[in-house]
Amino acid sequence: MSQAVEAVSASCAGYLADLHARCFATPWSAADIASLLNLPGCLALACREGRDYQAMAMFRSAADEAELLTLATDPACRRQGLAEKVLAFGEARLLNQGVVRVFLEVSEHNPGARVLYQRAGYDEIARRRAYYRDGADALVLEKWLQKDGQTAP
Ligand SMILES: CC(C)(COP(=O)(O)OP(=O)(O)OC[C@H]1O[C@@H](n2cnc3c(N)ncnc32)[C@H](O)[C@@H]1OP(=O)(O)O)[C@@H](O)C(=O)NCCC(=O)NCCS
Repeated sequence: MSQAVEAVSASCAGYLADLHARCFATPWSAADIASLLNLPGCLALACREGRDYQAMAMFRSAADEAELLTLATDPACRRQGLAEKVLAFGEARLLNQGVVRVFLEVSEHNPGARVLYQRAGYDEIARRRAYYRDGADALVLEKWLQKDGQTAP
């Protein structure tokens, strides 16, 4: 699939919320997403064909660190590299803004996402016991961003 990743604004919150609802059991509303996007340091990215939103990511950064708030691909578009593409695009953009470290949380019971993050270079640094409604632990992962040719601290 060849569509580009682009940054999207709070005006797209309804489309992002629709995609989020196709991907998560407890989706975020358009109002939630718009509120987040109006906060300083919040970045939303999407792969889309017009109004057909296929993948999304949201980050929030402060100083030189950022958190991946959500990452999702429409069930009809999975295993085509879209999540990897959106994640890599976001990391590159954050690095250009001076972010050096990205954090995220993932359920221990989300093997697909765990493989994706491992492949993308994220390492487990902590575990939050019984963090999710289903009782699953959250794994806290981090990645040090680096420009080509440099080594992480
Ligand atoms: C997790 C999710 C974002 C992956 O999106 P995707 O666009 O299908 O991911 P990609 O195609 O970029 O996958 C890249 C690699 O990650 C791994 N991967 C992704 N999904 C996987 C799965 N279900 N099972 C095993 N490995 C998986 C594979 O190594 C894959 O490469 P491959 O297809 O060549 O084997 C998507 O399944 C999703 O939206 N899930 C529901 C929401 C969610 O759990 N988000 C993450 C919350 S932390």
